[in-house]
Amino acid sequence: MDGILAENDLGDIVAADRAHVWHHLIQHKPFESVDPRIMIEGKGMRVWDQHGREHLDAVSGGVWTVNVGYGRESIANAVRDQLIRLNYFAGSAGSIPGARFAEKLIGKMPGMSRVYYANSGSEANEKAFKMVRQIAHKKYGGRKNKILFRDRDYHGTTIGTLSAGGQQQRNAQYGPFAPGFVEVPHCLEYRSQWGEVADYGVRAAKAIEEVILREGPDTVGAICLEPVTAGGGVITPPAGYWETVQEICRKYSVLLHIDEVVCGVGRTGTWFGYQNFGIQPDMVTMAKGVASGYAAISCLVTTEEVFELFKANPDDPLDYFRDISTFGGCTAGPAAALENMRIIEDEGLLENTVRMGARLMEGLEGLKERHRVVGDVRGKGLFAGAELVMDRQTKEPAPEPKVQAVVADCMKQGVIIGATNRSVPGFNNTLCFSPALISTAADIDQILESVDGALTRVFGQA
Ligand SMILES: Cc1ncc(COP(=O)(O)O)c(C=O)c1O
Repeated sequence: MDGILAENDLGDIVAADRAHVWHHLIQHKPFESVDPRIMIEGKGMRVWDQHGREHLDAVSGGVWTVNVGYGRESIANAVRDQLIRLNYFAGSAGSIPGARFAEKLIGKMPGMSRVYYANSGSEANEKAFKMVRQIAHKKYGGRKNKILFRDRDYHGTTIGTLSAGGQQQRNAQYGPFAPGFVEVPHCLEYRSQWGEVADYGVRAAKAIEEVILREGPDTVGAICLEPVTAGGGVITPPAGYWETVQEICRKYSVLLHIDEVVCGVGRTGTWFGYQNFGIQPDMVTMAKGVASGYAAISCLVTTEEVFELFKANPDDPLDYFRDISTFGGCTAGPAAALENMRIIEDEGLLENTVRMGARLMEGLEGLKERHRVVGDVRGKGLFAGAELVMDRQTKEPAPEPKVQAVVADCMKQGVIIGATNRSVPGFNNTLCFSPALISTAADIDQILESVDGALTRVFGQA
């Protein structure tokens, strides 16, 4: 922003917003006396609000989305050119960017082969659930229809995806939910459900097997998991977890659906989060970082084996995937996604994510040494969390108002960080960091310094 914007220039915008906009995930009563924040402009890692105040964005647009940073003219141009040529046609036909991006994406996902386009993470996950249900009908007489999900994971905001939601505060008051979704335990070792166990990762994975056996393996069609749990506390899976999950899935013919809505397209320093763990999913969903928020796009990617199941009998009018996504046909999505991927490749952003992620983790470990309130630090790539506790021995979670005070203090310093929010009751105590993949060492240091200062002010000297 040019810095000449006077505070009142956008008064009419603020008034219109206050009068008419219903913002997501926020209590609106305070807006009766306080202005909502309106974001006006972004460039690189930084955004400017209605007062012309500059902020370093350590959460990529609030919800880990703007992976390549703000103000990318080349993405805007790619989208503009495509919109003028052909903005839309329903997904029953193909498009040039749709075909090109699918090919490029599959090139990054060995073992996968088909891309189904939709427009949000929730929608992509719904599609996957529908496929699981249809496969149950096609292959198992309707029986193998249950979908497992994990405590603390989140897969979306629709009633179907909330039915697979492991965050009780996201779900509360929105039931009844769809039947056939079954919860398995989380894999957060810091909050071990089994006390101190030698091989926690394997133990947590075995808990999935216990649920499969309890429900009956012939009734369980799939399991949907985040590779690194995001809003449920930034939970990096413990060693041995994923390998054991894969073994269990194979043993009981349970499809492995990985929800890469947050981790997908670079966030953890690999193209996809699951690729850190050497596993092979059957279905992968992705959204946020696919086009870094320059256009709405989500994808459900499957293996050829899954795809083949949906064209076995062309004489049967119900044999194929009878699903529609109107906005899955918007060509702006794959046009933006193609350019987004080119930027990540040409600018070496995966490598940068690994380097800067290590700096962020090291810095957070340093904060843990300095501040007793930092109980645990977790993360992968430019995706990190710091769990705040009042007592390291008892691990009593820091109260949410104090956690929010740290976020507010950082905001005052011009750095936007996040915290787990309306997620797991009593455990909205993890600070979240997901700066863009273009982060520099100076950006990471500025984020860490602001948190250091905020922790000191909110919780007292370390
Ligand atoms: C892991 C995960 N899956 C799915 C979703 C839902 O995506 P969307 O908000 O695009 O529907 C989210 C959103 O935060 C998410 O974090």
